Amino acid sequence: MYDYERLEQYALKISTRIGFQPKVGIVLGTGLGDLVEKIDAVYEVAFTDLSGFPVSTVEGHAGHFIFGYFEDVPIVCMQGRVHYYEGYSMDDVVLPIRFMAVMGVESVILTNAAGGINKDFNVGDIMMIKDHIATFVPNPLIGKNVDQLGVKFPDMSKVYDDKIRETFITVAKQNGIPIREGVYIQFTGPSFETPAEIRMAAALGADAVGMSTACEAIAARHAKVKVCGLSYISNQAAGITDKELSHEDVRWASKFSAENVEKLLRGFFRSIK
Ligand code: HPA
Repeated sequence: MYDYERLEQYALKISTRIGFQPKVGIVLGTGLGDLVEKIDAVYEVAFTDLSGFPVSTVEGHAGHFIFGYFEDVPIVCMQGRVHYYEGYSMDDVVLPIRFMAVMGVESVILTNAAGGINKDFNVGDIMMIKDHIATFVPNPLIGKNVDQLGVKFPDMSKVYDDKIRETFITVAKQNGIPIREGVYIQFTGPSFETPAEIRMAAALGADAVGMSTACEAIAARHAKVKVCGLSYISNQAAGITDKELSHEDVRWASKFSAENVEKLLRGFFRSIK
């Protein structure tokens, strides 16, 4: 169960300390952790300092929020997201997203490494998420509704904000960055998918597969926060090639996308400041 009042208290305490309200929340996916060094950081807080917050174990880093400025826009950046496959409940997995909503962000940019299902996609491409399939993971809104955040049955017909996505696409084209649009499908992991599961996902209309973002997008939309989803293709999904998949390879390939993601973020932030 959510302790909404406690989230509010944390938000108030941090807002008073930093003296600004973050406008955008950024969630950094696998391999993008170094981007935090590009932020003009004002204040940093570890999830371990916020009682009740889940602690990610996946990359050996506990989660952090970094409050500061990126291209002069006030932001909060989350490094070390929590995954469902770590054994946390969906409530816990989306708690940091809800916290950013309570902090007052207008939009969140959710980034992730993903396997390419669409055969036209190459490793290194960036796919702006147009829509998602979250049916294979538990819905984060199951259980008692947190009325202070949003309604019990929120509309999901436009999860990913068209205007933000179009801005990213424009910036990508201006910078010669390979950009795609498509449908993201979330599975729980932590095992990678089988080729049969990927054929199923393709038949359902998915272009890329991952283990993180759709549930976060649902929680953000529930709280009326605009969502931008950005997948960088770190590998071709199981069975698209014969190559065996490993987390190390995903991390390694993801690092090469960091530069392009940074360019896109800079272009986007310049357009909104
Ligand atoms: N499957 C699921 N999640 C992923 C993949 C994949 O192939 N690549 C990166 N995250």
